[in-house]
Amino acid sequence: MNSIRLTVNGREREIEVEACKLLVHAVREDLGLTGTHVGCLTGDCGACTVLVDGASVKSCSVLAVQADGAEITTIEGVAGDGGLHPVQQAFWDEFGFQCGYCLPGMLLTARELLDRTPDPDDDAIVQAINGNLCRCTGYGSIVRAIRCAATRMAASGEPAGEAS
Ligand code: FES
Ligand code: FES
Repeated sequence: MNSIRLTVNGREREIEVEACKLLVHAVREDLGLTGTHVGCLTGDCGACTVLVDGASVKSCSVLAVQADGAEITTIEGVAGDGGLHPVQQAFWDEFGFQCGYCLPGMLLTARELLDRTPDPDDDAIVQAINGNLCRCTGYGSIVRAIRCAATRMAASGEPAGEAS
């Protein structure tokens, strides 16, 4: 077993993991954060997306030990004390999900996009969510939701990483 330290949603955590354990399994089983979903386990669907040091990462494609010392944000860390993050609110308002299975990964991908590109055009949004599959929505409402979030956050002067 290997002891690793992580900062998870702003909180220091230390867990013991086998060398071969995937980060997605450590997040769900050892950290108890089951909002990170398991889909394909082959890096294709994006359901397992988390932020590692601010970058969106498919956590099924990374070993937990590789994340030692990193700052991890999962879907549980997106909303702030004041309620939903603007990206979450926009997905709600624009019907950006149906079954919701893709939603945690999609939201974290959207948040990373808006962190680095506050005013993305539709092509940039489509490019950003290219690795996140959704079986339900047809993607149009997801693109609208991300555009809506960008517009609202620009109006409020709020960076994507700051939950309200
Ligand atoms: S479960 Fe990780 S990309 Fe599908
Ligand atoms: S809302 Fe069902 S997979 Fe996206």
